[in-house]
Amino acid sequence: MLLNVLYMKQLLMAATLFVCAFAILSCGCARRTQKAVAETGESKVDATVAMDEPAQVERVEPEIVGAWTPIRLSQEEVSFGAEGGKATVSCLNYDCWWLNDAQVAGTETFFHATPGENNTYETLKADGISARIVNRNQVEISVAPASKSHTWILHLQSGDAFTSITVKQTASMKAEKITNPTLESIAARTSVRSFTDQKVTDAQMEAMLRAAMAAPTGMNVQPWSFVVLTDKSKYEEIFKGNFNLRIFKSAAAVVVFCADTTVTRAPRNNPDAAPVTRPNGTWRDDMGACTENFLVAAASLGLGTVWTASYPYPDRYLPIKEALGLPATVVPYCVVAVGYPDKEVKPKDKWKPERIHKGRW
Ligand SMILES: Cc1cc2nc3c(=O)[nH]c(=O)nc-3n(C[C@H](O)[C@H](O)[C@H](O)COP(=O)(O)O)c2cc1C
Repeated sequence: MLLNVLYMKQLLMAATLFVCAFAILSCGCARRTQKAVAETGESKVDATVAMDEPAQVERVEPEIVGAWTPIRLSQEEVSFGAEGGKATVSCLNYDCWWLNDAQVAGTETFFHATPGENNTYETLKADGISARIVNRNQVEISVAPASKSHTWILHLQSGDAFTSITVKQTASMKAEKITNPTLESIAARTSVRSFTDQKVTDAQMEAMLRAAMAAPTGMNVQPWSFVVLTDKSKYEEIFKGNFNLRIFKSAAAVVVFCADTTVTRAPRNNPDAAPVTRPNGTWRDDMGACTENFLVAAASLGLGTVWTASYPYPDRYLPIKEALGLPATVVPYCVVAVGYPDKEVKPKDKWKPERIHKGRW
């Protein structure tokens, strides 16, 4: 009997040990599964499900040493001027939908964002900066106007994936802003699409065309010619089907910027040989520089302009080419309407210091 009791006790202990060992092994497996999901970052399973653990299992933090997975970003550094602004940085290597912790390290401030209900994130705020997780892989950074320069490091972390973005604000950019009449004309130019009846004088037109012809061109080819139009009764035919017709009719003058797409020259190593005609590889660039010079010159004279596309749309450039009798190798590159604006039109503010990279992207 006594022997039987002892034997039963031993059996009971063995069974208890077996159950404990099984429980420990099961926990280990559960942790390994959770880690694999976090490391690949590819799982589309809802985080709350994948990371779910039995309440009694103690949560194990991911190992830090050698375990961080680098997140690659569209920008590791974002720069702002004194006026501040907004920039969006994207994750490049995988979907960061599980990005679940972020902090802004300012001079003395640390903030954490943890997902609220339905994975909504609070905006992080420190003095002069705020950061918002917009969607599964984008962070929007907003910087307030400031008179002093500042650098922040924005840390983004999810499980064992980690990265940081350096945010710089260089306040001196505004303070040192240089201006002169040329820069003022460039800044004053903006598209004008309705005009008064006031005429553009011949002297004004020549001044603008001189500026156009002063533009740089590849190998100094100067592929341009210009057709200046003022007779509005011909516009229906010249600009047949062109949705800019209403603008042209309102303008005092319309200038068709024409480009010879070929270059005719003596062969380089034999100047005495007969000239050869070949395609001009840079005519579009040449015409772009020429057109912008015209627009800026017009702005300097208080005139309004709008650059409208002609090439590469056959439905626009073919009627122009035919109506104006352009030679076979010449295309109407663009059409510029010019005149006095009939209302005040403010230039758009396009200054984005964060688009400027120093040294490398
Ligand atoms: C290549 C090019 C084609 C354009 N085509 C047209 C056009 O067909 N009609 C128009 O109203 N504006 C046209 N524009 C003007 C742009 O819409 C305008 O430059 C742009 O919205 C920026 O505004 P801003 O010129 O006031 O700075 C064109 C501009 C460029 C550079």
